Amino acid sequence: MQDINASIGFDRKMWRQDIRGSLAHAAMLAHVGIITAEDERAIREWLAGIAARIEAGDFPWDEALEDIHMNIEARLTEAIGEAGKRLHTGRSRNDQVALDVRLWVRDAIDGLTGQIEDVMRALVEQAEAHAATVMPGFTHLQPAQPTTFGHHMLAYVEMLSRDRGRLADCRRRLNESPLGAAALCGTGFPVDRHMTARDLGFDQPTRNSLDAVASRDFAAEFLFACAMCATHLSRFAEEVVIWTTPYFGFVKLSDAFTTGSSIMPQKRNPDAAELVRGKTGRVMGALIGMLTVLKGLPMAYGKDMQEDKEGVFDAAETMTLCLAATAGMVRDMQPDAARLREAAGAGFSTATDLADWLVRELRMPFRDAHHVTGRLVARAEAKGSDLAGLSLAEMQAEEPRITEGVFGVLTVEASVASRACYGGTAPENVRRMAAEWRERLA
Ligand code: ARG
Repeated sequence: MQDINASIGFDRKMWRQDIRGSLAHAAMLAHVGIITAEDERAIREWLAGIAARIEAGDFPWDEALEDIHMNIEARLTEAIGEAGKRLHTGRSRNDQVALDVRLWVRDAIDGLTGQIEDVMRALVEQAEAHAATVMPGFTHLQPAQPTTFGHHMLAYVEMLSRDRGRLADCRRRLNESPLGAAALCGTGFPVDRHMTARDLGFDQPTRNSLDAVASRDFAAEFLFACAMCATHLSRFAEEVVIWTTPYFGFVKLSDAFTTGSSIMPQKRNPDAAELVRGKTGRVMGALIGMLTVLKGLPMAYGKDMQEDKEGVFDAAETMTLCLAATAGMVRDMQPDAARLREAAGAGFSTATDLADWLVRELRMPFRDAHHVTGRLVARAEAKGSDLAGLSLAEMQAEEPRITEGVFGVLTVEASVASRACYGGTAPENVRRMAAEWRERLA
């Protein structure tokens, strides 16, 4: 029974939140006259002492005391007797644990938000440095149109800003205090739930005591926000893995973010990126685990809910690692501008620019321009050149009205510069957007 029942092995991670909650609860009990001021002072002083012992690593955790709540309360009572036993008046472990998990998730959100912003800042730094560094843009991982390295970095800034927004939404919704819901129906003691809510930084107390102890949708939301963010980091990591292969050679990572092989002396493996990609699985697993625990639970609390914690802790800690590693990699990454320029021009990447030129200059309907361009690509391919390598005569063999002017749109620089619509890849846009982000993140 003890082996399956005890949660102290993992829920001790919430000791700070548990003590914070008990301090607020005790202050309220004294305020409304349920306990005396002397009892409250004894509780406060001894909880501070317990916090110091835990911090110092010499707190005697006891499996037999089941969980963090009982471990702390038992030590408190050992020290101050009756006063310690009065702390749990008008409270149950059900609202206590609901409170602790909320506080823990709220703290985790605050930490992760700062880390997401750090990754965003690192991406913006690269975007500013490489606003005009051309590189291939892909669809289907096939060469599509030239873009810039800076534009590519800013795409991830947008994704991460939405991840940050999702965490903020989650924080806003979870920010209600369950304390005072007690076991499930509230308490007959004249507790002041508004006071404890205020003291703990909540916007208000929860409105329904059953919901307060039975709900963990805030944890599921948090895990979804983490899983989505992990997915974005994983896509980025996948690109780093591809880009650092010698076949691509788009970016270099220093020894700080690569490892060697124990047998192949030439290796530079992008382990950090691979692990960011690989760790996404456990974050997604935590989300599915949480939803699965909740899906069959009748009101109100059930011990199943003790299973909410490990996934949440692991996901948050995994995100901390992955965000730190990603920030490090982004700052470490050295794009190879010459290689990127060469790759950007390959694969007839300015074919769309040619078709657009035919539309603009010859007033050709786009579908016809698409066909003519297709034939010109085939010609260039047969000749073993790129589009700019065709002579004017060869171009005119497909479309007699083509003039010398067409060569002006076939370079990758012209291509990216022309895409100056809002949100487009043009270096001037990238510079403006990067500056905007830098200011917003300052
Ligand atoms: N360790 C428990 C949990 O994590 C605390 C709440 C226990 N409540 C109870 N009625 N047994 O859920």
